[in-house]
Amino acid sequence: MSEPVAVITGAAQGIGRRTADLLAAEGYRIAVIDLHAPAHAFSSDVLLYLGNITQEATVEAFVDAVFTRYGRADVLVNNAGISHIAPAETISAADYRRVLEVNLVAPFLLAKEFGEQMLDAGSGSIVNVASIAGIAGVGDRAAYNASKHGLIGLTRTLAAEWGGRGVRVNAVCPGWVKTEMDEADQAGGSYSDEDISQRVPMGRFATPEDIAQAIAYLADSRRSGFVNGHTLVVDGGWTADASWERLRLSKRGNAAEGGSR
Ligand SMILES: NC(=O)c1ccc[n+]([C@@H]2O[C@H](COP(=O)([O-])OP(=O)(O)OC[C@H]3O[C@@H](n4cnc5c(N)ncnc54)[C@H](O)[C@@H]3O)[C@@H](O)[C@H]2O)c1
Repeated sequence: MSEPVAVITGAAQGIGRRTADLLAAEGYRIAVIDLHAPAHAFSSDVLLYLGNITQEATVEAFVDAVFTRYGRADVLVNNAGISHIAPAETISAADYRRVLEVNLVAPFLLAKEFGEQMLDAGSGSIVNVASIAGIAGVGDRAAYNASKHGLIGLTRTLAAEWGGRGVRVNAVCPGWVKTEMDEADQAGGSYSDEDISQRVPMGRFATPEDIAQAIAYLADSRRSGFVNGHTLVVDGGWTADASWERLRLSKRGNAAEGGSR
């Protein structure tokens, strides 16, 4: 049997890039769609398709390209996403819609196209990259939070509809991760490394590797074959911790001290 195929959106950089490299190392053949090519070439032979996932025609052409090249798709990782930081009362309808288009509508389009093929094949795994902003409201992120809450809702719905036909659908919820997205967001001046590391019981940002490992687990039916409709939080304890800051910091051991990444 030929090696399984993993499709990853937004894998030119950040979490998606690390996920593509990890899944390639685990033996998957890889297909990627992104707006731009990666700064550093992929180590394995990757199908790289340049395009915007909010466009239905682009998604259809990408699916055709994947099936022409590989003839199958076993895993879909809906990773591409954009942030938008602004007080709710200042967000334009156009900006709100733009965030929803990328973070919520596009994952639906991709899940529909690849899901149809997976349902025909009777197996498949879809992993949606949501956020802890899909579980609770983080200030100044109305569109982003709404899109990620919606993505978790979509995950649960598809899990309910497709689980009985062999297609599992799960979500990963990262806390703050050190990627280009974080660099761009921090450049706006709204938070610092210290703000994040102090909020997390484990005292650091997530790494792309932390998130890629969780995605790889959910992707692989040998490891997570009965996990369906789950939201896997990978946040170093952020959402579990209702302590006030002084109490939280009083619990720090050496392992959590000074770590910002
Ligand atoms: N970085 C974090 O702190 C963090 C935390 C929680 C969740 N997430 C989520 O993880 C995912 C990846 O985040 P990241 O930090 O790696 O982001 P990133 O900005 O570093 O990378 C995102 C990639 O998606 C691509 N992309 C964006 N819009 C696209 C479109 N319309 N069509 C095709 N490609 C598109 C970009 O070109 C980029 O390569 C996102 O869904 C994000 O919301 C990130």
